[in-house]
Amino acid sequence: MMTERLTKLFRTALLALWAAFSLFSAANAQKVADSQNATTTAAVPHLEIDGSQIAAHVSPTLYGLMTEEINYSYDGGLYGELVRNRIFKDDASAPVHWSVVQNKDDKDKDKGAAGAIALDQAQPLNDVLTTSLRLDVTTASDAHRVGVANDGYWGIPVRAGGKYRASFYARAASGFTGPLTLTIESNDGATTYARAEIQHLTDKWQPYTASLTIKKGAPLVTGRFVISSKRPGRVWFNLVSLFPPTWHDRPNGNRVDIMKLLADMKPAFLRFPGGNYLEGDTIPTRFDWKKTLHELAQRPGHQGPWSYRSSDGMGLLEFLEWCEDLGMQPVLAVYAGYSLKKDFIAPGPNLQPFVQDALDEIEYVTGDASTTWGAQRARDGHPAPFKLTYVEIGNEDEFDRSGSYDGRYAQFYDAIKARYSSLQLIATTKVTSRTPDVIDDHYYRNAGQMEGDAHHYDNQSRTGTKIFVGEWATREGSPTTNLNAALGDAAWMTGMERNSDVIVMSCYAPLFVNVNPGAMQWHSDLIGYDTLTSYGSPSYYAQQMFNTYLGDVVLPIHAESIPTKEWQPPARRGTEVLPPKQQLPTLFFNATRDSKKGTVYLKVVNTADAAQPVQIKLTGLAGVGAEGQSIVLTSANPTDTNSITEPTKIVPVRTTVTGLGASFTRSFPAYSITVLQLQTQ
Ligand code: AHR
Repeated sequence: MMTERLTKLFRTALLALWAAFSLFSAANAQKVADSQNATTTAAVPHLEIDGSQIAAHVSPTLYGLMTEEINYSYDGGLYGELVRNRIFKDDASAPVHWSVVQNKDDKDKDKGAAGAIALDQAQPLNDVLTTSLRLDVTTASDAHRVGVANDGYWGIPVRAGGKYRASFYARAASGFTGPLTLTIESNDGATTYARAEIQHLTDKWQPYTASLTIKKGAPLVTGRFVISSKRPGRVWFNLVSLFPPTWHDRPNGNRVDIMKLLADMKPAFLRFPGGNYLEGDTIPTRFDWKKTLHELAQRPGHQGPWSYRSSDGMGLLEFLEWCEDLGMQPVLAVYAGYSLKKDFIAPGPNLQPFVQDALDEIEYVTGDASTTWGAQRARDGHPAPFKLTYVEIGNEDEFDRSGSYDGRYAQFYDAIKARYSSLQLIATTKVTSRTPDVIDDHYYRNAGQMEGDAHHYDNQSRTGTKIFVGEWATREGSPTTNLNAALGDAAWMTGMERNSDVIVMSCYAPLFVNVNPGAMQWHSDLIGYDTLTSYGSPSYYAQQMFNTYLGDVVLPIHAESIPTKEWQPPARRGTEVLPPKQQLPTLFFNATRDSKKGTVYLKVVNTADAAQPVQIKLTGLAGVGAEGQSIVLTSANPTDTNSITEPTKIVPVRTTVTGLGASFTRSFPAYSITVLQLQTQ
């Protein structure tokens, strides 16, 4: 058994070792590179893992997810809704994504059906959904329908056998009672994949629902959703919705294939709702959580900061249910009085309503049904409170040049701690007014920068504020990242893992991108999808490997003869002057051990263009088995990647390997990330 003292001593020794390895600061890069070159070129790298010591305890929440509405992450992404612009507020001047369908006579195009559609503010559904879609059918017959078509988010997915649920509110001008025909069909209307009928329209707003089952044998294609009539008349529509089957069959739920990708990552937490999406461009367009509650007919949606409008179908409760579905704990970010276009609310009485809003939000998440907001959550359909440990106050407040964050943080901190003393409060940048429990660091870099900084936290104080690496990514490849990015990510993750006594949580960003033209605002994302399919990038698989094969303690590694390569750092932003070249290691590693099972997970990242033999020694551990598992992610070229058309070009390959033991040599392929799973007693 290890004493804490021994652990600390060992950590100190380990840190000293890594400090000696701190090759990569601009100041000493060349000097270190020369000495490295002089001593390491010929020797085989050597890793000695000391199983008798614990360098750090691994945070059980080390790997999680970060999410916000960007790149059509929810609307047109995870959120199952298929109808785009369902409440007709996306554009005040036209019913965008809607078109009129008029089946003309085959022989005489002037004959057949005639009709028109328009936005109508004179027929609001309620105080929130104030714009309706009016359909005027002037000429129609059994052979010639008139209707409205929605083109969805880059098409409506047609999936054979899929049971879809359509719903809408409608009212008709007197004299028209229907029927209305609902179809999922090809874009030219020639092929119908599913059909349903709605009867008995009245001159009052009424909700209608129907089930549409896609024919067996239908091709996997995109089409459109049409509501049509064969009789003349006038109908208004609002909140027109179409859902495919969802994860766990949740009403208003999430897309199954994307949830499956997330579930496979086994994330410990979800940081939401942003990111910039929390802040909004302006104070009125922040994530105003109270407007994202209740039934959908009470949600107005809002303009997001990433150039499009959000339906807010993914509201606060849906975020929480997403957590529940994947066994993640919520990491709730509360709006803290600063928005992207530099609007801010100075600390003091004007900020107080926003502080109260955050307290109400925490009560909505955690309060039981005897509390005001806990009761509201129960009325919204979720009586059980959610467990909450971390609350983040704002997002990237270092961009608030007014300097107001210190005071704003203090005001939120005091109010939240007074009511919820056990909550851990995260600051988004350095503050001096209060001591935050956790500070959120963000890194967006290229692969060389990530590799060069993989030891960033090695010298971090072990007793100070904990770290949340709340956004990070190696940004190479588009729309999703390539293998080189995954190598940079993996190098960086070895550093986070090694320091996971201080790094309590980490999450990559952005999580999602819809790969259709025009959908992406931020390149190099983790998971890509179109209307029909989805895939994980090499970075996705790197994270999956790091999280799946993870022990509860970090074992110290003594390393020798680590090879290096020359690397050109990019020019500083706004300049063309290149900094001096640096030497980067080409080998990164970390070892953790599952102290109950005795399994050791050695992660080795080889960024070089050639296979790298490494001598590996395990000391202080009894009975290291000769047989183990190797899980390898690699490809021939660092720019290789996955895509919609090649979704699994680069995936981890797991094999049983022999020849392991207390001392062995193993070769790690060029451009590879490897987990060696070794069994000990
Ligand atoms: O992840 C994309 C954006 O990067 C986030 O919204 C923001 O927090 C950061 O600047």
